[in-house]
Amino acid sequence: MNKTNIYQLRRNALAKHIFSKTGGGIAVIATAPELARNRDSDFPYRHDSDFYYLTGFEEPGATLVMKVASSGKNYQLESHLFCRPKDLEREIWDGIRLGPEAAPEILGIEFAHSNQELDQKLGELLADHDAVYVRLAESAEADRRIRHWMKQVRGQARSGINPPSEFHDIETLIHEMRLFKDIHEIEIMRRAAAISARAHIRAMQACKPGMREYQLEAELLHEFRNSGSQSVAYNSIVAGGANACILHYRAGSTELLSGELCLIDAGCELDGYASDITRTFPVNGKFTGPQRALYDITLAAQEAAIAVTKPGNTFMQPHEAALKVLTQGLLDEKLLKLTELGSLENAIETAAYRRFYMHRTSHWLGMDVHDVGSYRESMPSSQEEKPWRILKSGMVITIEPGLYVRPADDIDQAFWNIGIRIEDDAVITESGCELISRGVPVKADEIEALMKNN
Ligand code: GLY
Ligand code: MN
Ligand code: MN
Repeated sequence: MNKTNIYQLRRNALAKHIFSKTGGGIAVIATAPELARNRDSDFPYRHDSDFYYLTGFEEPGATLVMKVASSGKNYQLESHLFCRPKDLEREIWDGIRLGPEAAPEILGIEFAHSNQELDQKLGELLADHDAVYVRLAESAEADRRIRHWMKQVRGQARSGINPPSEFHDIETLIHEMRLFKDIHEIEIMRRAAAISARAHIRAMQACKPGMREYQLEAELLHEFRNSGSQSVAYNSIVAGGANACILHYRAGSTELLSGELCLIDAGCELDGYASDITRTFPVNGKFTGPQRALYDITLAAQEAAIAVTKPGNTFMQPHEAALKVLTQGLLDEKLLKLTELGSLENAIETAAYRRFYMHRTSHWLGMDVHDVGSYRESMPSSQEEKPWRILKSGMVITIEPGLYVRPADDIDQAFWNIGIRIEDDAVITESGCELISRGVPVKADEIEALMKNN
């Protein structure tokens, strides 16, 4: 399947959803704006994931409009891309633009226009369609544009043209599609995860006491970019010692000390897809007794979660499996007191573990690191809460248990400031899951062996 066809197929699948929901309509999806960082410098441009999913087009200043018309029992789709016009002067400064003349052929889209025509053309496209699909309440600017388009159509009412009467959320439909990755997407995600795994290895092998966190971040970035990934999927966490207990810590300038752990949560973005890996390793290459004890508990929790990551189980089952192992481990190490809690079940029920494990075990992974898609089943349910999503082949989740011990009077000092997380990326298959991020060792012995010659 060539790349272009993938986007055509996705637009057709979306058109089908629109047709079955409202018998047709107009969908409008803009890409992300360019953002200034400071004065004349912009943040590196990153397209909008939904827009890219449907077009494969990475330039800023673009909008996709899909016109879904009913023709009896079937639908007819007409896609319009509005993009930056060719402009020699601007292209000398900012780079080549595809332009509306070349876009249909290159992108496999029916029509392309200059983005300067968007407002006027949308007035025409919206006429005589009841249903409009947009991102609801996206921003004041997006709302302003919608009002402008609607005003134009309403202005034609006396010519017998009817303005749209229903607004629907386009994201719900696209995000449900994005939740299930096709072969093309999984292949990119495998490659992204492989690059990230190599980056983690590089950082582990470079690590020596006395280095600073930012130096390990530099090792990660080297591998990401040297392997052709365009960006980080999120800001890398390189956390030495106590910093590992700060969940959203970034790579800072803390010195990495012998006897302490280093937690790295880092993943590259490749061709629009994220990877998300965490490893925790001893700065001097050898775990201490208490570090190793908590590390092995965390790894056992991850293994328990992996074992139930399979189709038919719910999204929450890996988390529950991990919680059980983590909480039992906390009781075994006397970080939680059985005498106070009575039983493992009670320690879980009362969320006593939360002091040491305060985040969930999984999230969807895809174009966005915390990817889109509902975590609940959408089927009507008499229960107050909709049931957790049933895992199905093609979904991708992370599996990332952790333990974080802050200093406290009632905690054995040997455990103070130990922060551990182990995170891998799992594609749900027909029978279980495929871990695509295991190019980097995860067992304590294997990590020690890897760091032996540092
Ligand atoms: N790196 C973000 C996360 O693990 O969720
Ligand atoms: Mn994650
Ligand atoms: Mn992560």
